[in-house]
Amino acid sequence: MNRKLIAGNWKMNGSLAANDALVKAMLADIGVPAADVALCAPAPYLAQLQSLLTGSPIAWGAQDVSAHDKGAYTGEVSVDMLKDFGCRYCLVGHSERRQYHGETDELVAAKAQRALAGGITPVVCVGETLAERESGDTELVVRRQLAAVIHAVGHCISEIVVAYEPVWAIGTGRTATPEQAQQVHAVLRAQLAAATTHPKRVRILYGGSMNAANAASLLAQPDIDGGLIGGASLKAADFLQIVAAAA
Ligand code: 13P
Repeated sequence: MNRKLIAGNWKMNGSLAANDALVKAMLADIGVPAADVALCAPAPYLAQLQSLLTGSPIAWGAQDVSAHDKGAYTGEVSVDMLKDFGCRYCLVGHSERRQYHGETDELVAAKAQRALAGGITPVVCVGETLAERESGDTELVVRRQLAAVIHAVGHCISEIVVAYEPVWAIGTGRTATPEQAQQVHAVLRAQLAAATTHPKRVRILYGGSMNAANAASLLAQPDIDGGLIGGASLKAADFLQIVAAAA
């Protein structure tokens, strides 16, 4: 079985002072975690995470990356820049980027490919909206989103992390049931199995209102290999309880 991965996504939250307090509170109590742990911060705070987390059991990463190598792309951040600050992971295609920044499946796939080529593990987010679920299109949507990445990275697909985040469960307090989540994770696993001989090597995280109370039942599902945590990653005790639930 894969070692589970619990990754926090701070989204556009934090400050130097708040991050310092939050990370120090996590480090004080994390001990030797039985899961891999990571925090994905806004780009300006990656240097701070590098300084706070180097040598600790917590890895760190970014929330987005450019599909380009370098050059005239004002406002973008390249993979090499993320590597300069020690990032191991990078979220790619979070639904908030797809929704508010018009990121297409193809752009998300190009970003994932760029991250992989540069030595950073992309955490590729997929997930359906409420309307898509209600019209019975959940499978179609997540398979389409993952297919674009498989098409772009080929056999390297076994090197990525996938995060299934139903859009209707993000920040709403409405979590997918363990059965609903497992059902989609199984679909994604089967799609990976058609693309790589190592489908079990790919960790498929669940994200969407995961918290200290519901984490254990979600993480007990056979195809749920970890969590991508928004709100609860901003509270040290809550986040550490989720990490403990992944043991
Ligand atoms: P919440 O845990 O706040 O629902 O956010 C989930 C998410 O979008 C993580 O990327």
